[in-house]
Amino acid sequence: MSIKIKSPEEIQKMRIAGKLAADVLEMIAPHVVVGVSTGELNQIMHDFMINEQGTIPATLNYHGFPASSCISINQVVCHGIPDPDKKLKSGDIVNIDVTVIKNDYHGDTSRMFEVGEVKPFASRLCQVAQECLWLGIEQVKADATLFDVALAIQTHAEANNYSVVKEYCGHGIGADFHEEPQVLHYASPELKQIVLKPGMVFTIEPMINLGKSGVKVLGDNWTVVTKDRKLSAQWEHTLVVTETGYEIFTLRTDEQPVLPNN
Ligand code: MF3
Ligand code: CO
Ligand code: CO
Repeated sequence: MSIKIKSPEEIQKMRIAGKLAADVLEMIAPHVVVGVSTGELNQIMHDFMINEQGTIPATLNYHGFPASSCISINQVVCHGIPDPDKKLKSGDIVNIDVTVIKNDYHGDTSRMFEVGEVKPFASRLCQVAQECLWLGIEQVKADATLFDVALAIQTHAEANNYSVVKEYCGHGIGADFHEEPQVLHYASPELKQIVLKPGMVFTIEPMINLGKSGVKVLGDNWTVVTKDRKLSAQWEHTLVVTETGYEIFTLRTDEQPVLPNN
């Protein structure tokens, strides 16, 4: 059990994989509209990855997952299975999570989309979840710990009366989809032992709930929902630790940090 330090050559491959994953989310954005099915969105992304990018969709058949993306609507926390019969409706908040493999290395990213007219309380959850991601990212630098990352995320979520999902976490990533360490998003004391070093590559991907933090897995053995069936939101980036901070591999064109106003 150890956290791999990536070589400059590996980091260059992950930069490329991360950019390709970000490109999938940019490509799909205009398709995320009222009436489209999550199955259709998945098919468009699958075809883009295979035919346009020459990437491999990492989720397809991963531990039996049946699709090339995870699409998680409203009370679905993560691992929503795309479905041709599941159409987006006005007011939905939707997470699309894609992971591509290019030249044997992974890039993993997700973002929220607001469909049609979204109520302010739901929009605000999406915004605060994105702020949580960025506050976590901003803690990343050599000799900081994963505790610093988690504490920043949990503090901001709870200051807004939201809760942090504990059962699912970010992860090291590289030639394998899920590597060490586990990047918990709540301030668990053992995270103080995980000291960041240049060349470590991992994801941060907080799942933030409007209500209580509890989750359950549905009968399909994949779909994770909030126990109280209230809304959940998630954003994810893949990044590398540098001497002075971090480099995000999955940054979208024109994407800027989203941080709280005060
Ligand atoms: N992309 C997810 C993550 O951020 C993992 C999805 S695994 C799957 O780690 F099997 F559900 F696709
Ligand atoms: Co992901
Ligand atoms: Co991930």
